[in-house]
Amino acid sequence: MLDVTDLQIELMTERGVVRAVDGVSFSIQPGETVTIIGESGCGKSTTAMGVLRLLPGDEAVVSGRAVIDGHDVVADPGAAARLRGDTVALIPQDPMTALSPVHSVGGQLGEAVRLREPGLSRRAARDRAAELLAQVGIPEPRRRLRLHPHQLSGGMLQRVLIAMALAGRLKLLVADEPTSALDVTVQASILDLLLTLQEETGMGILMITHDLGVARLVSDRVHVMKDGRFVESGEVEQIVDEPAQDYTRSLLAAVPRLGSWDGASR
Ligand SMILES: Nc1ncnc2c1ncn2[C@@H]1O[C@H](COP(=O)(O)OP(=O)(O)O)[C@@H](O)[C@H]1O
Ligand SMILES: [Mg+2]
Repeated sequence: MLDVTDLQIELMTERGVVRAVDGVSFSIQPGETVTIIGESGCGKSTTAMGVLRLLPGDEAVVSGRAVIDGHDVVADPGAAARLRGDTVALIPQDPMTALSPVHSVGGQLGEAVRLREPGLSRRAARDRAAELLAQVGIPEPRRRLRLHPHQLSGGMLQRVLIAMALAGRLKLLVADEPTSALDVTVQASILDLLLTLQEETGMGILMITHDLGVARLVSDRVHVMKDGRFVESGEVEQIVDEPAQDYTRSLLAAVPRLGSWDGASR
C-alpha cells in the first residue's frame, strides 16, 4: 500500500536549507495502522506532506522512494496528485480551517462526491453525501448537510472531513494529529471511528501524533522520530513497555492523556 525507502526532504527556509527528513524508511500494508510519533518539530508533518507530495516544489526537495499503490510519487509527483483525488486522503490537524466557511457542508461534500463520480446528478450526490455523514456517525445527516462549518463542533467537522476522504476508493489515509485540536472527550470517539472504518474498508492508516496515548490506541507499528530520523521502531507494546531510548521514555512521561496506562487494556 505504502512503501517508503530512504526518504529525504530538504526545506528551503529563510535560514538556509534544513534537512527536515533525513533518510526514513517504513511501509504500511492494507488494514494496518503505522504511527510516526515524536516531539514537535522532529519532521512528522514534513514526512506526511512529502509522501503526499503536498510540499511546494520551490520550497522542498524530496528524494528517495515513496511507492503508493504501485506508483513511486517521488519520481512522479503527478501520480500523487491523481492518487490524492481518489485512493489517498489527508485528515488535517485543524478541522476548523480545512473547510470553506462560505459553503454548506452538503455543498462541499457533494462536490467531493461528484469529483470522484462525475456522472452523478446533484440529487444523487446529495444522497451519497448524506450516506457518508451517516457512515461517520453524524445523526440527522440530511439536516446537517444544510449547515455551514461554523455551525458544527470541531469533532463533527473532523467527522465531515473523514466522510470527505471516504468519498473516493480510499486505500490509504494519512492522519496528521487528527485529534490534537479536539476536546479530550471527543478524541477517543474520532479514533474509534477511524478504526471502525478501517475494519470496514481495509484501508491503511499513517497516523502522525506526539501523543503516545493515541499511538497506543491505534497502532500496529510505531516509529519514533527525532531530528528527522527514526530512532526506534517496533510493535506498539514493545515501544511503550520497553522503550530502548531515553527520548522515547521522555515521550512516555510527557502525555498520558488517552487510553489506559495501567495495563488494563492488555
Ligand atoms: N514552512 C517551513 N519553513 C521553514 N521551516 C519549516 C517549515 N515547515 C517545517 N519546518 C522545519 O522543519 C522541521 C520539521 O517540521 P515539521 O515536519 O512540521 O515537524 P512536526 O510535524 O514533527 O512538528 C522543523 O525544524 C521545522 O522548523
Ligand atoms: Mg506537525
